[in-house]
Amino acid sequence: MKYMYKTILQAKKIYKSYRIPQQVNVLQGVDITILQGEAVAITGRSGQGKSTLLHVLGTLDRPCQGTLEIAGQAVTRMSVSSIRNRHIAFVFQSFHLLDDYTAIENILMPARIARESISRGSPAYRRGLELLDKVSLSDRAHQTTKLLSGGEKQRVAIARALCNHPDIIFADEPSGNLDRLTSRSIHDLLLNYVKEEGKTLVVVTHDLELASRCDRRFSLENGILSLPE
Ligand SMILES: Nc1ncnc2c1ncn2[C@@H]1O[C@H](COP(=O)(O)OP(=O)(O)O)[C@@H](O)[C@H]1O
Ligand SMILES: [Mg+2]
Repeated sequence: MKYMYKTILQAKKIYKSYRIPQQVNVLQGVDITILQGEAVAITGRSGQGKSTLLHVLGTLDRPCQGTLEIAGQAVTRMSVSSIRNRHIAFVFQSFHLLDDYTAIENILMPARIARESISRGSPAYRRGLELLDKVSLSDRAHQTTKLLSGGEKQRVAIARALCNHPDIIFADEPSGNLDRLTSRSIHDLLLNYVKEEGKTLVVVTHDLELASRCDRRFSLENGILSLPE
């Protein structure tokens, strides 16, 4: 595949500690290079810093030390928001939808924030409907998301994540609260995006089936990444 093997993310010697409410040294020298077109799973016990790592790699949180490059560009105070907007999307365990808005309104929220036109018939609106179709929720487009089940909410959140064609999707335990069958449909959506569009997925998961479907797997333990046993 033409996208394969180009570096999309490189993190070197990432350190992250929290001082409040108490000193915890969470990340202690994480090095990772992630390629375009691959799915990477990060596993590890609760409290080991998986979410912290995902937030740092995804530019939502700043490391105390270390460097991060995304799409060939150093992430700095100056470049961070444009890098995030152009390349990155997140999917969270608890969906983070605006529950009083409809499914299509949630999906169009990033476009709205970017001040694109989201009126009916606009390119963004049409893409939103296509994405709803892709996640098999066309018939729920105009329902507020508070009425949806957990699995349906996560499908809306994935459609929202895909709306801006991100190069990397960071997913933090995306099926952590869902039953097995629903989980599988969520995993299929994420992995298909990687395989069909040559994009990248970095997913934190306890789900061994999902981890085994990824191209590479790491375990986060004692602040560093290692290969799982
Ligand atoms: N904003 C924060 N302030 C202080 N401590 C935090 C913060 N976020 C996480 N921690 C601590 O950092 C450690 C790692 O947390 P986290 O990254 O959420 O782990 P995981 O996702 O692997 O369960 C935990 O001890 C947690 O209490
Ligand atoms: Mg976590």
